[in-house]
Amino acid sequence: MTTAQSTGPGVPATLAATWRTLTEATSRRTGSTLAALATVDPTGAPQVRSVILRACDPDRGTVAFATDVRSAKVHELRVEPRVAVTVYDDATGVQLRLAGRATVATDPEERRRRWAGFGAHTRRAYASPTPPGTPLAPDATTTAARVDEPDDAWFDRFAWVEVRVDAVDRLDVSADPQERVLLTRDGDAWTGGPVTP
Ligand SMILES: Cc1cc2nc3c(=O)[nH]c(=O)nc-3n(C[C@H](O)[C@H](O)[C@H](O)COP(=O)(O)O)c2cc1C
Repeated sequence: MTTAQSTGPGVPATLAATWRTLTEATSRRTGSTLAALATVDPTGAPQVRSVILRACDPDRGTVAFATDVRSAKVHELRVEPRVAVTVYDDATGVQLRLAGRATVATDPEERRRRWAGFGAHTRRAYASPTPPGTPLAPDATTTAARVDEPDDAWFDRFAWVEVRVDAVDRLDVSADPQERVLLTRDGDAWTGGPVTP
């Protein structure tokens, strides 16, 4: 974990708690697995949608999700890589607001490795020959999945997006009084501390 140079009251403990939450959320389904991902579109308007957090790397300070390379969010983050990610787990009362920069993985080995970890249901999300958001024919209710297509066509549509987290805002509403800690990263060093909730 990137705690070596961390300073400030509550910084190491908040970092540890944050990456513990994210590690659990990406190892099994928890209240923090489903995240809200915010981007900015080319007009400057905010866009937000749900994504499943699929991996995190506490050492590098990253979280990752899978998506369709043709989706609006990918177009948006290629233009403006700064994104925000929020999770809230009702079971613990902890909200994490993460800010960082998103990149679309290009390493073929990494993409293959991530794809290999997906089940059939997840892979089928990439079966549509038309990009997400394409209007359907008037009589169609859903896109016909091209199950006859080679798996490679589906794989080509899949994007693995990694967010390098640069800021953490952790709010614990289960505490009385509530506790909020803000952290920012400069290189591998995190600084910050408690703030008024
Ligand atoms: C429970 C749930 C989980 C979802 N998980 C993902 C996901 O992991 N990746 C993804 O691209 N979209 C996911 N979606 C769909 C997105 O919220 C969104 O509708 C879609 O990706 C299109 O977004 P965009 O047009 O902003 O790119 C999920 C939706 C729900 C309701």
